[in-house]
Amino acid sequence: MSNIDLSINFAGIKAPNPFWLASAPPTNTGYQIMKAFEAGWGGAVWKTLGVPVQNVSSRYGSINYRDTRMAGLNNIELITDRPLADNLREIEEVKKYFPNHAVIASLMVESKKEWFQIVKDVENAGADGIELNFGCPHGMCERGMGSAVGQEPEVLNTIVQWVMEAATVPVITKLTPNISDITDPALAAVRGGTSALSLINTIKSIVGIDLDTYAPYPVVDGKGTNGGYCGPAVKPIALHMLKELAGHPEIRNTPISGIGGIETWRDVVEFILLGATSVQVCTAVMHYGFGIVREMEAGLRQFMSDKGYSTIYDFAGKAVPNVVEWKNLNLHYKVVASINADKCIGCQLCHIACDDGAHQAIALPTNGSRVPEIIDENCVGCNLCSLVCPVEECITMERRDDGSQTESWAERTMAGKVPEHFNDPRGGGVGHFVPEPSAALQYKRKDRSGRK
Ligand SMILES: Cc1cc2nc3c(=O)[nH]c(=O)nc-3n(C[C@H](O)[C@H](O)[C@H](O)COP(=O)(O)O)c2cc1C
Ligand code: SF4
Ligand code: SF4
Repeated sequence: MSNIDLSINFAGIKAPNPFWLASAPPTNTGYQIMKAFEAGWGGAVWKTLGVPVQNVSSRYGSINYRDTRMAGLNNIELITDRPLADNLREIEEVKKYFPNHAVIASLMVESKKEWFQIVKDVENAGADGIELNFGCPHGMCERGMGSAVGQEPEVLNTIVQWVMEAATVPVITKLTPNISDITDPALAAVRGGTSALSLINTIKSIVGIDLDTYAPYPVVDGKGTNGGYCGPAVKPIALHMLKELAGHPEIRNTPISGIGGIETWRDVVEFILLGATSVQVCTAVMHYGFGIVREMEAGLRQFMSDKGYSTIYDFAGKAVPNVVEWKNLNLHYKVVASINADKCIGCQLCHIACDDGAHQAIALPTNGSRVPEIIDENCVGCNLCSLVCPVEECITMERRDDGSQTESWAERTMAGKVPEHFNDPRGGGVGHFVPEPSAALQYKRKDRSGRK
């Protein structure tokens, strides 16, 4: 693994590795950032600096899913409430101790004059780059900043241009996911001249309601407000939006820092495969501390060694071409579920899921065993049973077509072979076994498949 070089040059911002802290409570002070760099993080985006604010208490709410705490985190915190002078002095000090690490100042102000001033202030303090916070979905947007800017591509474009005029260091534009098409603000930022993009900021949310006071969490004296959602629960949304940018012809040459639910080395690799060339982490550090970077680094190195990669640029974006539009998927590809009887613990969750939630393709055994049976001709290969099965690799999906035929919906359309009416035999689902509705009334323990 000795030939592996994790260092990056992200739009001109150099860092010893792609692991950065996102702008958030873990980057609130120089103390935390120096501790993080000591632990192995390669960069940090300072907690957003801007106009003086007052934060409230309490500030966070979470989704605890079964025995997983903080599967999703929601916050109503605003930008830093520490004085600007203190932050600038600490940026300077961190850069003295860690000249080769990336220190990026996240900024959010309002007028052109304020943007010019704060850009100069953080550059004078030694920041290696600037991140524009156009994402905050609570509080700051009520004052015309944060996501209020991120949701208005024209305003965003203007501010990016102001900052590019004033800045001599690279500028990253951080995008809000609270928008229907993420490419709109991204294009506005690229056309404004941004050096790079980062995404996602938090998702507008309410995580729950107190059933005694009827106030949303987090509760502030009997009331609450919408917050910003993040943590493991948002990773799929972040990956999708990342792909939208990394695959876009006008955006793909702009470096992207990936953010949203990153916790393990595997998450890091997935973000890089979809086009990120640095990653930022907030919730996982708030949950487990700076030490998680050790597992991230060891795992990333092992992955790169196994695959024969020397730098992250060797595999950045490699998954992007594999994410295609639905119409380009091969309609002849056919998988069917298969149960490994030796691994099965007989819980029969797969039967319930398939019978009630899918395609009535798993029968209960009639031979006294508890291992269910797949009815091959009914299985549409949806994966559901393999997802609910609690035993790893017990249900696998096996390929049944011979791979010789490839045909997509787009190709069928071109060839004029698509179904033309509801009962057209060229449609899907023809010939599937479906129990009669009345079979539901005779659903018995002995044969729950509805098979006659
Ligand atoms: C409590 C809290 C405060 C945050 N404050 C900021 C902020 O000041 N500026 C900013 O750009 N993003 C802020 N964020 C958003 C994070 O930087 C990050 O974009 C988001 O949490 C998604 O990453 P994660 O899933 O790793 O937490 C904050 C997030 C949390 C949880
Ligand atoms: S869910 Fe898995 S373990 Fe449970 S009965 Fe089905 S195959 Fe067996
Ligand atoms: S893959 Fe879907 S249809 Fe097939 S057996 Fe499993 S749940 Fe049923």
